[in-house]
Amino acid sequence: FYGAVITPDSLSHYSAYPRCLLCVGASGDIDWLAEDVHDSAVQDVLAQHGAQDAAFVELKHGEFLMPGFVDTHTHAPQVPNIGSGGQDELLDWLSNTTFPMEAKFADVDFARRAYSSVVRRFINSGTTTCCYYGTLHLEATKILADIVHSYGQRAFVGKCNMDRSSPADYVEPSATASVAATEALIAHIRALAGPPLVQPVLTPRFAISCTPPLLTALGALARADPSLLVQTHISENVAEVAFVRRLFPECASYADVYDRFGLLGARTVLAHAVHLDDEEVHLVKERDAGVSHCPTSNFNLRSGICNVGNLLDHGIKVGLGTDVSGGFSTSIITAIQHASTASKVLAFQAPAASLKLSPPALIGAPVVPTFSGRQLPLATLLHMATLGGAHVCGLQHRVGSFAQGKAFDALLVDLRDSAGNLGLWGVDGDRELGIGEGARGTLGAMLERFFFTGDDRNVRRVYVQGRWIGGAEQRR
Ligand code: GUN
Ligand code: FE
Repeated sequence: FYGAVITPDSLSHYSAYPRCLLCVGASGDIDWLAEDVHDSAVQDVLAQHGAQDAAFVELKHGEFLMPGFVDTHTHAPQVPNIGSGGQDELLDWLSNTTFPMEAKFADVDFARRAYSSVVRRFINSGTTTCCYYGTLHLEATKILADIVHSYGQRAFVGKCNMDRSSPADYVEPSATASVAATEALIAHIRALAGPPLVQPVLTPRFAISCTPPLLTALGALARADPSLLVQTHISENVAEVAFVRRLFPECASYADVYDRFGLLGARTVLAHAVHLDDEEVHLVKERDAGVSHCPTSNFNLRSGICNVGNLLDHGIKVGLGTDVSGGFSTSIITAIQHASTASKVLAFQAPAASLKLSPPALIGAPVVPTFSGRQLPLATLLHMATLGGAHVCGLQHRVGSFAQGKAFDALLVDLRDSAGNLGLWGVDGDRELGIGEGARGTLGAMLERFFFTGDDRNVRRVYVQGRWIGGAEQRR
């Protein structure tokens, strides 16, 4: 690939190379990249690497490559419910809207039809790594894993563990049965052929839906196999937190429930974390658990606003989650927009802090390393959507940014319209967007435009492990 490349470095910095030459090997890993290569030198650099015969993609004006999105929390069986039930808060929404839909996945034919289109939709949204919750059903969740595997997406797939506080027709009969089905799913996923892009994940739905014997058994599974990821919900909604405190009076907090059962560790993905108290924040940091920030869902179900800046200031790993269908979009772009809005709402609720900390809004400018009380900068939004999410699910050495030896999980973003024009941007002309001018500012402007005005039409190609698996160009 030759052209503009944007990749995160840290929470505060990203790199933007207008004339990057990036070479992907047969394994799908990045063989090498040369950050700044003039047009006239491309053939020479290729020859130096013995890559003169490689298939060559030259990016056009208005296009750039960036790492694929990591969705650290979503529910595949809830996609058919997108856009309904938003009048309720969490616990009523689960009873009225969510559990009835999930119960339908007892029918494997329904599951196969639904999941085929669901996974396609996540891929075309630009999600290259996805942490999926299935339903409680073993067979349907195997089908979900099979479809993800066959489409070539990188993912974690878990079946919900839930043996209480659920409807009679949508609950597991016992902790033993729940654990047996979980073990069967793990074995099924690990037996899938080829490179292990799909991995199993333990999925105790949330403390409310799991009896202590079930949590104990899942904690034992996690301890016995430290490679297993764990995903669950925490402290999303005030009524939910109160319910957890009633169910587990012996525990000091919601976070302490997971900790006592051995489910709070460096490979735990905690969705929401809206209402954590200070001690819980410290506990989450101490255990090195990660947080999936799901702002679209937190707004839509009126759960609250997660103070992500505070979590980042405490050094907690944070990624973004769509949390469909609490969230009404399969796209991490929507999560980015709402993460920005959430941080701005918190900033104007804390005017003193934000006045003190906000530098002028220079795109791509270095930021002070303090995130609470101010709007999240572009660099931080990019990080949470990619490398931060990779950290949360333990894949930071494989994906989330471009570096030699990492997997080529990437988006070819195209800001032009279907006629190949840059629309209103074209009015400003080449000066504004000129590839070749080299400033991080111009590519930063493209990235910001993509995040705040883009959608799946701009996600032209989606690559996972070097393989082109989706995007708008395949639909044309
Ligand atoms: N808590 C327990 N289950 C769920 C779910 O499906 N969605 C959300 N947003 N929160 C939950
Ligand atoms: Fe969720």
